Amino acid sequence: MARKPFVGGNWKMNLHQAEAAQLAAALVQQIAADTSVDVAICPAFPYLASVGELLCDAASPIMLGAQDFYFQPNGAYTGEVSLSMLKDVGVKVVLVGHSERRHVIGESDALINEKVLAALEAGLHVILCVGEKLEQREAGKTDAINAGQIALGLAGVKTAQMKQITIAYEPVWAIGTGKTATPADAQSAHQGIRKQLTALYDASVAGSVRIQYGGSVKASNAKELFSQADIDGGLIGGAALKTDEFMAIIKAAR
Ligand code: 13P
Repeated sequence: MARKPFVGGNWKMNLHQAEAAQLAAALVQQIAADTSVDVAICPAFPYLASVGELLCDAASPIMLGAQDFYFQPNGAYTGEVSLSMLKDVGVKVVLVGHSERRHVIGESDALINEKVLAALEAGLHVILCVGEKLEQREAGKTDAINAGQIALGLAGVKTAQMKQITIAYEPVWAIGTGKTATPADAQSAHQGIRKQLTALYDASVAGSVRIQYGGSVKASNAKELFSQADIDGGLIGGAALKTDEFMAIIKAAR
């Protein structure tokens, strides 16, 4: 089954207001009404509303994404942001389980699962990020780590909700390091993930879920990665901060 490519820009803790607005405006202009690739951008929290307004005013097909949220609907959770607040400012897509949240902030699989379930319930699209650390890759555990994170992350997710799920395979050792999985290694991991989705759900679900690759994707390596059978686009960090690089990556996904 043909899957529509999906490219996300995860801006992480980068860009201040003027830079965020400038990058978003440039992407809006260059993507215009082209919907051949689904595109999402995930600014830092303080600029979600202003970037969201910019996308909305331009009637841009670019989706507004959030890098994080808390799963409770409201209440005494100092410092946290709810899904309804995100929806209020136009967020359509949320990242869950990013390696920096797992390994720097210390989020557990149980918390990640709570977040996945809450975001699906809220009607948002979820990009569930998984991936192995270097020592796990070297020990031949890539597929097992992905499988564990997917099984725990998707626990309780019903077949009908899988339409709202994208998986991002982001090997931890490739994130922000300039090291990229070879297209063959990335394809092998993606194939393993799709096989697991067949086992957890069925072939039709596995065939329609998009699996993005993330980890030092650049304009120069995007085409070869995206040409692999099970790679349906990318989740981009550093290269999403520059209009030309990000646009070239989107074009490579077409
Ligand atoms: P880089 O593209 O900077 O390696 O980051 C990837 C990533 O973590 C996207 O979520």
